Amino acid sequence: MPAARKSPTMTTNHTHSRSPSSGPPLIQCRRLTKTYKKGDNTITPLQELDLDVPAGDFLALMGPSGSGKTTLLNLIAGIDRPSGGQLIIGGTDIATLSRSKLADWRSTHVGYVFQLYNLVPVLTAYENVELPLLLHRMSARERHEKVQTALQLVGIADRHDHYPRQLSGGQEQRVAIARAIVTDPTIIVGDEPTGDLDQESAAAIMDLMVRLCEDLGKTLIIVTHDAKSAAYAKRTLHLEKGRLIEAADLAARRSNFVPQEA
Ligand SMILES: Nc1ncnc2c1ncn2[C@@H]1O[C@H](COP(=O)(O)OP(=O)(O)O)[C@@H](O)[C@H]1O
Ligand SMILES: [Mg+2]
Repeated sequence: MPAARKSPTMTTNHTHSRSPSSGPPLIQCRRLTKTYKKGDNTITPLQELDLDVPAGDFLALMGPSGSGKTTLLNLIAGIDRPSGGQLIIGGTDIATLSRSKLADWRSTHVGYVFQLYNLVPVLTAYENVELPLLLHRMSARERHEKVQTALQLVGIADRHDHYPRQLSGGQEQRVAIARAIVTDPTIIVGDEPTGDLDQESAAAIMDLMVRLCEDLGKTLIIVTHDAKSAAYAKRTLHLEKGRLIEAADLAARRSNFVPQEA
């Protein structure tokens, strides 16, 4: 298998990986709120959330089930739309974009990695990775080079003609990551990307995520239940009932927790 290497066709964002003090953060959530109405009931999965994510950050989001992690990720990825507040990414408040402008924005700026890979079963690894490029105008040759580069980067080029059912879970997730990075997005989000993998495959996927951050300067946000996976990130934030918990509060809660003697 060829060693994955930094590609000349993937731009690095190092020039933007400056300290937060030298410019505005890449992602700014301001009083970000999401509500769903169900009959007379209103559910508020996110409540006036403030969050800054500098370019080049690698953020892990943790929290109990139903705490709003997927909701936050989907808002930042432009898959879902806020009910209130601002969501400024790269200087644009994406909450104000029309549906079609948001779709364009998403296909240029965001790569999404899912827990269950979400590969198209009737397409080969190569064809799955090629899919997002079909939304962009480019020559067949350029498209081919981008797909090859992405497959090499995740170390799976030798499996390009395999179908998803012929791959292990870890290999499927590599293909899914290749698909997420093939358009050279600024931001990569992952919703429990290691949630369905054994420990060894999970560690390999997290190593790959670290390389996307450190070598290519990508900004990563992943949701995880697994402290081992979170440890690969530069920082971890905890959500509870739609709000971020301050680290000091979390530490206080942990120190108040006294395990029962057997
Ligand atoms: N489309 C939706 N319609 C109604 N309620 C939703 C919808 N999506 C999420 N929710 C609710 O929002 C809350 C947060 O969900 P989610 O963000 O998926 O949590 P997590 O990813 O942390 O488990 C949950 O109570 C969930 O039931
Ligand atoms: Mg979730």
